[in-house]
Amino acid sequence: MQNQVQTYAFPLKQKLEEGKFTVCSVGAGYVGSLTSIILAAQQPNLKVIVCDVNQDLINSWSDQRYPFYEPELDRQFDIAVNQNKNIKFTTKITDAIQESDAIFICVNTPPKKDLISGLGKESDMKYFDLACQTIASMGDPKKHRILIEKSTFQIQLNILGTVPVGTHKRIHGILSQKLSNPDDCYTIVSMPEFLAEGVAIQNLLFPDRIVVGTPTDKNGMETFEVIKGIYSNFQTKFIHVKTASSELGKLFANAMLAQRISSINSMSQLCETTGASVQDLSKIVGSDKRIGQYFLNASPAFGGSCFEKDLQSLVYILESLGQTDQAMYWSQVLHMNQFQKRRLLDMIISEFPNPSETVLTIFGFAFKKNTSDTRMTPIAYFVNGLIEKGFFVRIHDPQANERGFYLEMEMQGFDIAERFNFQFCGSDYNKAVANSNAIIIGTEWDEYITTNYRNIRDQMNQSRALFFDLRSIVDEEPLKYLGFEKVFKLGN
Ligand SMILES: NC(=O)c1ccc[n+]([C@@H]2O[C@H](COP(=O)([O-])OP(=O)(O)OC[C@H]3O[C@@H](n4cnc5c(N)ncnc54)[C@H](O)[C@@H]3O)[C@@H](O)[C@H]2O)c1
Repeated sequence: MQNQVQTYAFPLKQKLEEGKFTVCSVGAGYVGSLTSIILAAQQPNLKVIVCDVNQDLINSWSDQRYPFYEPELDRQFDIAVNQNKNIKFTTKITDAIQESDAIFICVNTPPKKDLISGLGKESDMKYFDLACQTIASMGDPKKHRILIEKSTFQIQLNILGTVPVGTHKRIHGILSQKLSNPDDCYTIVSMPEFLAEGVAIQNLLFPDRIVVGTPTDKNGMETFEVIKGIYSNFQTKFIHVKTASSELGKLFANAMLAQRISSINSMSQLCETTGASVQDLSKIVGSDKRIGQYFLNASPAFGGSCFEKDLQSLVYILESLGQTDQAMYWSQVLHMNQFQKRRLLDMIISEFPNPSETVLTIFGFAFKKNTSDTRMTPIAYFVNGLIEKGFFVRIHDPQANERGFYLEMEMQGFDIAERFNFQFCGSDYNKAVANSNAIIIGTEWDEYITTNYRNIRDQMNQSRALFFDLRSIVDEEPLKYLGFEKVFKLGN
């Protein structure tokens, strides 16, 4: 038991001051690896361990081969691995936990495959629960540790099916199954990760804020001081709140960002029919300081591993607490996201009376530019819809790979295994555009703005070629001049 004078956090604070503090990330994916690499690069006084069950992934990090694309990663990786030499990658998870004073839980919490569409979608908790069970098995009242949740998931109902249970309560429940007094072994802290892939390194180096949710007792207060110490070299503001606020704050932040995308998307068709331009609208409202310029680009929909999941969670919590009007409000953001995809897909399909004689090329499969991540990419919906209609579909992307393509199609419930009317072309333009009847820009990669469209048009179908810019990034006039019969620019 914690005595009156000394909190669990007190010895951890001392270890930190003495430069003997070790942090470990359970999970070496986007969040676990990137947060750890930045921490190791910026805090040479820390020892950082990144562990994962995936041997290939750990080999990749250990051999200094990046398992995914993220701009500016190499410089920070070099500082951590070759300069500070304070980071290691391992599959020995229990050893890593044993050595650590603070543990970040960064494992995947994907949506369940069979419940992929519609509201009430659940997260697959098997990875998370297993990680927590391993952590529980290492619980030791003589070596108190801080347990930091980074993973987020569809909030589950409690055992009676009545109250939505936040992440910290789920962790506590799992620890309690193995440990008679989990609070002696672990202080559970919520530190939501706000990084955006594609700009993750900048986000992690210069976060707008670091949110820390702890228990409200004295130990919680001192644990917050330890966390501040772990991040002592970061120039940012810390927001210290109750654990529940931290968890809900993360959901709300993502819901607000998604809402901005749905808001601008809701104006795109109106712009198309009235002669306005959606980019002009973005400029007009975005230059108002009260609104701000970010997340105001019209698109085929938002994607990525977090927005939809977090919105689903928010709607689910509200519904299960009987707050139905509020649930309806946020579910409209999801509705608009689906609507935009359907509207644009129908519009493309309507241009081609003979799908079986038509080749369509999609530029971009990653859910946004500057990342190879394809999770919940809206483009999967277009690929599937066009394949189902009988078009021959070719997919180009500068970074996304074929394995990721197949995995994501399956993950989103699109069964293309028995289909032969598509080809994933990777970064090969020649293969992707040969004899094609249309280019469809799905992801806003910069190279799709600057690529040589004269060359591309020459390789496309000579009698009929159309252009659908679903990200509004390319000028229409030069494309028309090159002989594209129709150039559709979203929101124009
Ligand atoms: N990617 C983002 O932008 C982002 C941002 C904020 C929060 N999140 C949340 O953070 C969590 C992690 O996301 P991610 O994008 O890094 O996922 P990811 O799939 O890239 O990585 C998760 C890793 O955890 C590993 N893992 C699974 N079970 C394990 C176990 N028992 N022990 C050790 N390793 C295990 C997997 O092998 C995988 O490599 C998710 O809950 C996600 O919702 C993600």
